[in-house]
Amino acid sequence: MAADPREQIIDLYRTEHRTVRDILLDLIDAFTARDKRKIKTLLKAFDEEVGPHMRCEEEAIYPALKKYYMDNQIEHLLTEHDLMIATLRKLYQLIERGPVTKEDARIAELHIRMILIHVIDCDGTMLLVELISDKKAKSILTARRRAEREGLSLLNYAAEARGRMLRASSLRVLFGGC
Ligand SMILES: [Fe+2]
Ligand SMILES: [Fe+2]
Repeated sequence: MAADPREQIIDLYRTEHRTVRDILLDLIDAFTARDKRKIKTLLKAFDEEVGPHMRCEEEAIYPALKKYYMDNQIEHLLTEHDLMIATLRKLYQLIERGPVTKEDARIAELHIRMILIHVIDCDGTMLLVELISDKKAKSILTARRRAEREGLSLLNYAAEARGRMLRASSLRVLFGGC
């Protein structure tokens, strides 16, 4: 593992962004194949992988980058997180109501491609992590260890610890027509 705390964060987050990217692309394939068992496995993997990852971003990484962003840009990243939470719930809803239809697969693909955008945006934040102080980087690693110890999945983090209401645009994903 890299000795520099910034490098440790970047290595970890780059690796996880790749993993999440691959899970999302595999999910599109699993929906297209209408393979419910595979979909369930991938949704669970996504839920677990993103939980501590996103929690540490919201509690430590994004706040540490505040001086490089305008307020509304941090809010934009958080709104993309809202969308990830709403989308995961939506995808669970889609498979809970019966066999996966062709229309379900089409809708799922649209939603998944929307959240893939955040994975790319989020990886871009690592360019800014290169600039933070040693002290800030170390406190991010501490926050990350705490998030891992608590081990909340994404949906459990959203329900129990996040303390943020999903924005209206994300609720439309959950309750809107498609
Ligand atoms: Fe991320
Ligand atoms: Fe993120």
